[in-house]
Amino acid sequence: MKTVLILGATSEVALALADQLAAKSINLILAARQVEKLNPVKADLTIRFGVTVTVVAFDAANMNSHADFYQHLDPKPDAAICVFGFLGDHDKAKVNWDECATILTANYVGAVSILNVIANDFESRKAGVIVGISSVAGERGRQSNYFYGSAKAGFTAYLSGLRNRLVKSAVHVVTVKPGFIRTKMIEGIATPGLLTAKPEQVASSVIKAMVAKRNVIYVLPAWRWIMLVIRCIPEFIFKKLRL
Ligand SMILES: NC(=O)c1ccc[n+]([C@@H]2O[C@H](COP(=O)([O-])OP(=O)(O)OC[C@H]3O[C@@H](n4cnc5c(N)ncnc54)[C@H](OP(=O)(O)O)[C@@H]3O)[C@@H](O)[C@H]2O)c1
Repeated sequence: MKTVLILGATSEVALALADQLAAKSINLILAARQVEKLNPVKADLTIRFGVTVTVVAFDAANMNSHADFYQHLDPKPDAAICVFGFLGDHDKAKVNWDECATILTANYVGAVSILNVIANDFESRKAGVIVGISSVAGERGRQSNYFYGSAKAGFTAYLSGLRNRLVKSAVHVVTVKPGFIRTKMIEGIATPGLLTAKPEQVASSVIKAMVAKRNVIYVLPAWRWIMLVIRCIPEFIFKKLRL
């Protein structure tokens, strides 16, 4: 990998990824809505690691701009990591379509839109790695977050299909299903320490998975077993739980 594109580069997970990739002398294209936040990051990584860092404006919700956004990247990336996401306000989304649509777009529709463009390019070049940060929330719908969860479920299924399509073109797709990550997304929510990953842990797991061509990772291994149990609960019991 010479150049990696990070979509949603202002996220704390993305910043940890940028740091660790730059430390491996990998050039970066950092794409985000608030590009001004990335200028100090660019300066810091360039000075510390001597890599080339390009900062580009990108809004996952502006689907009409995605083909143009990608067309203007020069050089094209060897790998793309789709990090952006939005938890949103679940209770508000029950009664406010705009909030609901923002959740669905940031976690599913916008991701599909940009990854379609990237997948077609990688397929024609017969090389590349695509990483999608999904979530364990996509494994079973719960009353407290089924808008976010269903969007992540769709994203996980999309990545699975993309992996199945692109394997014959030597393009690898990694699905990342973290549990809790200590970032601003879950600020104010109490989570068990042992089940909460640091952004740096997520970043190093993602990079290892890209190199080892892993298909699906959970970051903290305990989540694989927790989700196995959750998936096994019969629906007639599950529907009565307050989750
Ligand atoms: N934190 C957790 O517990 C947890 C658990 C499982 C999975 N995840 C997933 O991990 C990924 C990283 O999240 P995080 O925890 O690092 O959260 P975060 O710090 O809140 O980052 C979310 C990022 O998504 C960006 N974003 C949202 N809507 C966007 C849009 N329309 N276009 C472009 N960028 C957009 C935000 O940009 P702005 O800075 O412009 O707002 C922000 O940089 C997300 O996909 C999230 O769903 C998180």
